[in-house]
Order: sequence, then structure tokens, then C-alpha cells
Amino acid sequence: MKKYNVAVVGATGLVGRTFLKVLEEYDFPINNLVLYASARSAGKKVLFKDKEYTIVELTHDAFDNIDIALFSAGGGVSKEYAPIAAKKGCVVIDNSSAWRMDNDCALIVPEINIDDAYSKSNIIANPNCSTIQSVLPLKPLLDKFGLKRVVYTTYQSVSGSGQKGVNDLIRCKNGEKPEFYPYDIANTCIPEIDEFLDDGYTKEEMKMVNETRKILHVDNLLISATCIRVPVEACHGVMIQVELEKEFTIEGVKEALSSYPGIILYDDVKNHIYPNSIVAKDKDDVYVGRIRRDLSCENGLLLYCVADNIRKGAAANAVQIAMALDIDKCKK
Ligand SMILES: NC(=O)c1ccc[n+]([C@@H]2O[C@H](COP(=O)([O-])OP(=O)(O)OC[C@H]3O[C@@H](n4cnc5c(N)ncnc54)[C@H](OP(=O)(O)O)[C@@H]3O)[C@@H](O)[C@H]2O)c1
Repeated sequence: MKKYNVAVVGATGLVGRTFLKVLEEYDFPINNLVLYASARSAGKKVLFKDKEYTIVELTHDAFDNIDIALFSAGGGVSKEYAPIAAKKGCVVIDNSSAWRMDNDCALIVPEINIDDAYSKSNIIANPNCSTIQSVLPLKPLLDKFGLKRVVYTTYQSVSGSGQKGVNDLIRCKNGEKPEFYPYDIANTCIPEIDEFLDDGYTKEEMKMVNETRKILHVDNLLISATCIRVPVEACHGVMIQVELEKEFTIEGVKEALSSYPGIILYDDVKNHIYPNSIVAKDKDDVYVGRIRRDLSCENGLLLYCVADNIRKGAAANAVQIAMALDIDKCKK
């Protein structure tokens, strides 16, 4: 099997560390691995497959002879460095929001639209964490029943804000003041994720709207979102309210969901079986349950999904893209 030279950018972060875990678990065919972070972490040692690697400061010549680079160092780093890597023939899979809505970049959930990767530039974007776990259950519903309207409400864990979010939850649980969130995150939910726009939505909410349309190829889908930070360390929950085009049965919906890759139907309420952070943590599937009719509209359906935002919402989705791609066919 062909092996590739791989770079991880942001290797010391929450997502970066999980990249390494997932690359190891999936046994990605690596020839040479290089790990980048900022000058702050340069020189630190990291173990991968029982071998010690040294973190290197990211510079403009970091991508010489690299086949594939996994980025998770924030939008600023991706804006600056992804085009440099791509110009050198390296395939970039970027976790930030910098390139997601760029017309030349594919936005991929591998179970849904891996073929989009070949018609675009060398920069492939990994979608927003809440979007990934939401479009997965929506795709089989779109294929079988058609989608008319979607409303998302998210319950997002603090790890979605990176290490600083996790640190703030610990700080607040210890009775100290938050340094990152505007309120004591141990004692309240916060309906503010990313910046507010003039129309009252946040950037996070609009990421869900725009990215859903792009991944599912449904430019005119009616859709809105409300994103809420909750005092949970790991895994995001998303309540999805969907109006389908066609009539459906709950059995037909469950059949469509359970036969789709990447989804685990977890729905037996009488036995307290429904998606939750405890069951979804460290898994790469999206757990879907609480499936029932929406009583407020015709052909309305309600479902709740939970996934590990650092794994399927970030690192695992990116590595799954890399595994599913023909990297040499993708290189421009
Ligand atoms: N957390 C999630 O659920 C999630 C989900 C999807 C996507 N993402 C995206 O993934 C990215 C990283 O998120 P995270 O949660 O892993 O954040 P994090 O824990 O704060 O880690 C940030 C990483 O970026 C590195 N970095 C920062 N500035 C750098 C620079 N100038 N040059 C090189 N490396 C630099 C840091 O290195 P140092 O150790 O040197 O500081 C660290 O390795 C963000 O774009 C985020 O939006 C996160």
C-alpha cells in the first residue's frame, strides 16, 4: 500500500491531539509524519505509535515534500498557510471555517459527498462540528422523503471552544470566574457561540445554515439555527425539526436512518435509550433518537442527535476524508 508524507498543523491542540489518536487507530498509511504548532510549543515531545516526535514551529517551508496536511490551528493560520501548502501540491484538509464557503474548496462529509473533492482546489474543508452531525441524519431523509424546511437547536459542549473552553468549565466548577465565556459556564447555558451579526444570528448559526446547503446541494432549503453552549465537557447535541416534502411513517424514517453509514439509531425511550454525551464520547458515529412526529406541521418530524465534536465533528471526519480520497487523483 502506498504511504504518504503527512503534516499535522496545530498538533498540540484538542483537535490536533485527536488527529494523532485517530491516525493511529485507523492505521493511516504514513511514510513520514511532521507535527507543527506555534513557537510556544516548539520542542515539545509527542508520542505516535510508540515513537517520539518533536513539535516544530510552523513556517512557510513546512510543506516541502508533504502529500497531505491536516490543519487545526484556527482560521488565521489556515488562511495564511493552506494556500502555501496547496501551491506545493499538498492536499490540505482544514478544520477551521476559513475555506468552507469558498467556491473553489470542497466541503466534505465523506459518507455524503466525497466526490465533490475532485472537482475543486487542493484545499478541502472539514465542516463545522454541529453541521457534520446534523447533515448525516438529514441526507437519508432528503433522499427518501425530500426536505422542505429545517430548524436546528444545538446544545454544544465546551470542548467546541478548544482547550480554553474546557479550562473555563473547570475554573467555574471550582468557583473561579470565567476567563473566556461571558458567564459562569458551570451554572448556565449560554445562547452565544461565535460573534453576533447585525440580524441577531451568530456566525456559528449561519455556518450551520450555509454549510448544510452546500454539503447537501440544496441551495434553496429553508433553514435556521439557534446555537447554545452548555456546561458539558464533550459531545454536542442537536435537536432537528424537519418538514419533509413527502408523507412518511416513523418506521420508514427509522429504516432510512439505520441503513445509512455513520449513523447509529439509538431510540428506545421506554428503556431510557436516547442519544447522550456519555454514549457518544470517543465514538465516530452520530447517535440519533427521540424520533417522533412534529405535531405543529404537516409531514413534520423531530429528532435529536449527539456526536463527539472532537472526533466526528473534527478529527475523525478529517481523517475519514483522507482515508476515502484518492490522494494522488486529488492533487492539482
Ligand atoms: N474543538 C472543536 O470541537 C472543533 C471542531 C471543529 C473544528 N475546530 C477547529 O479546529 C481548530 C483548532 O481547534 P482546537 O479546539 O483544537 O483549539 P486549541 O485546543 O486551542 O488548539 C489550537 C492549536 O493551534 C495551534 N496554533 C495556534 N496558533 C498557531 C500559530 N500561529 N501557528 C501554528 N500553530 C498555532 C496551537 O499551538 P500551540 O500549542 O503552540 O499554542 C494548538 O496546537 C479551530 O480552527 C477550530 O475552529 C474545533
